[in-house]
Amino acid sequence: MRIHPRGQGISGKGNKLEEKLLILGIETSCDETAAAVVEDGRYIHSSVIASQVKFHAQYGGIVPEIASRKHIEVINKIVESAIKDAKITIDNIEAIAVTYGPGLAGALLVGVSFAKALAYGKKIPLIPINHLEAHIYAVHLEYSQINLPAIALLVSGGHTEMVLVKELGVYEALGRTKDDAVGEAYDKVAKWLGLGYPGGPIIDQLAKSGNRKAIKFPRAVIKHSKYDFSYSGLKTAVINYTRNAEHPLPVPNGLPLPEKFPLEDIVASFQEAAIDALTSKVMKAVKDTAATSIIIGGGVAANSRLREQLNELTIDTGITLYIPSLVLCTDNAAMIAGLGYHKYNAGKVADMSLGVNPNLKWDE
Ligand code: KG4
Ligand code: ZN
Repeated sequence: MRIHPRGQGISGKGNKLEEKLLILGIETSCDETAAAVVEDGRYIHSSVIASQVKFHAQYGGIVPEIASRKHIEVINKIVESAIKDAKITIDNIEAIAVTYGPGLAGALLVGVSFAKALAYGKKIPLIPINHLEAHIYAVHLEYSQINLPAIALLVSGGHTEMVLVKELGVYEALGRTKDDAVGEAYDKVAKWLGLGYPGGPIIDQLAKSGNRKAIKFPRAVIKHSKYDFSYSGLKTAVINYTRNAEHPLPVPNGLPLPEKFPLEDIVASFQEAAIDALTSKVMKAVKDTAATSIIIGGGVAANSRLREQLNELTIDTGITLYIPSLVLCTDNAAMIAGLGYHKYNAGKVADMSLGVNPNLKWDE
């Protein structure tokens, strides 16, 4: 039987299933209701995700009230499925890890309330998880070793964050968006162009047949902050451009824009500006901090141009690039349960007064 290190002051229920330490993870911070069972912070026994995307699609973005209601409707079933898929019973679970922030307040409340009730009823520990940290942790579920220090880029519909990972649990926030998240910019541009929701995958696909050099959309320069991002200007530039294709937006050599570009060129050019802004800052941070690797996570990590650019920029540099598979890039509960294992072993458990923190930061 393996001996598992225990956090101080934790009254664990002893080894369940003889030698496995199984954590149940619960995630409801945005528009995915997810539950997962993970062993020892590494082996995924089950991971169930119910996406609400179709309920929000008609509004072109996430409606917080709908998100909370949908979480309530399905959470019981999702947790049951995760337990069933793992071929265990709830009594085999050692502790419950749950996202308590950042995210939508009402949505977070559903997961936290559910986890508290279950932990109380089963008399097992409750582990509060920071959603941002869990996204970074996701790579540990697929790579046996992560070279540190790393620059982690978290890019989704709600986040554009860059952080220096010194070691697991020790972070230095470097930069974040000053306005829209990059995924939000994709979604808003797609909505404006009438392409549908979520905009990221649609634009990514359409951009493949466009000329990314057709239009020089602006790359935001943010005064006094070399690592922050800004996306509302880019979004506005695309809107203005399409309102009047002859509008004199900045072009590389100051010449007037040609008459008209096809939609593919517009989205390819938008994408190039959006991704350039990410990769240039990541590479700058790598250089400045002497990081040995790059970790990306969040829905926008699925972007083909982001992956391509980072691959090109890191080739022959000795910098390792860690990109989780798609299902671990987007919101999931395996990353919550996985990180939960380490927090549990470090004694970071909560009592029944745990609340949600919609604006939770890296260092809290
Ligand atoms: O992480 P995620 O599933 O949910 C949260 O926002 O928390 O990310 C969804 C975001 C959406 O804004 C979507 O448009 C964007 O990720 N996205 C993409 C791609 N796939 C999803 N953005 C760019 N390229 C993609 N291939
Ligand atoms: Zn997320």
